[in-house]
Amino acid sequence: MNQTVFRAGLLDGQVALITGGATGIGFGIAELLGSLGAHVFIASRKQEHLDAAAASLEKQGARASVVTVDVRDADRVKTMIEQVQRDRGRIDILVNNAAGNFYAPSESMSANAWKSVIEIDLNGTFFCSQAVFPVMKAQGGGRIISISMTLHYRGWPLMAHATAAKAGIDALTRTLALEWARHGIRVNAVAPGPIPTEGVRKAFTPPSAGGVPDVFAVERALEDYARKSIPLGRWGTPADIAGMVAFLASPAADWVTGSIFVVDGGEWLARGQSRG
Ligand code: COA
Repeated sequence: MNQTVFRAGLLDGQVALITGGATGIGFGIAELLGSLGAHVFIASRKQEHLDAAAASLEKQGARASVVTVDVRDADRVKTMIEQVQRDRGRIDILVNNAAGNFYAPSESMSANAWKSVIEIDLNGTFFCSQAVFPVMKAQGGGRIISISMTLHYRGWPLMAHATAAKAGIDALTRTLALEWARHGIRVNAVAPGPIPTEGVRKAFTPPSAGGVPDVFAVERALEDYARKSIPLGRWGTPADIAGMVAFLASPAADWVTGSIFVVDGGEWLARGQSRG
């Protein structure tokens, strides 16, 4: 992380746990919180992702630890929280970022497909928040930040499972904020707009002409989408989302709870309007 508006050492002595923290947006969040002095625990199902991410964080000078977890498993989540607390003595920041997603028509979506996304996104967010509660309560406060989305604001075909789960996360954010404010625990969410992950890039890959892959075609298609559909004219980056998470984790947000912040270059507001 080269540049940040946050002061060095802002999170010194603090412990941040980021689910799905080994890749994508979660890794961007780990990089920023780590660069601000937090000891970051990144959690993922996949050890190989964790090892690569931890090595990169340490190379950047961050204090990082890894923990394997499937957030669908409430018992395993409890064990993870105990492990972090045993290791560092506290947990100041929980970022519920782990998510699963794929396009599937509602009429043929299997019960297991529905269940797997609801369990990762919604149950996982609840299990992790519930498990960290006693730790944060005992230490006099903490911050929980969940990653939501904007697609459920109007509905999004082929994403019944993910939109339902993320709407649930928004509801949980408000409810937990009210229940836990008296313990000094602030609960907020960030709703990212489009970030060109591998899945998005795949969706933007046009069929190759005459069998010859055009290596610039994806970039052109992405640029075209940004020009037409994102008022601020560019795709987001994990750093854009991480900046909002760091703000919410910081004392600058001490009077902010139960809020959901859209960080999307204006995309959802402009959805359906073409900028030509
Ligand atoms: N279309 C339709 N159904 C799908 C699917 C797709 N693209 N991908 C998975 N499913 C279904 C599976 O068929 C299975 O249902 P079935 O048992 O009735 O066949 C069910 O979802 C669970 O699939 P499985 O692969 O066993 O998932 P998992 O529980 O190990 O992991 C995901 C679920 C969502 C993490 C996994 O599908 C995945 O890796 N998705 C892409 C990566 C991703 O989501 N990254 C995060 C971006 S936010």
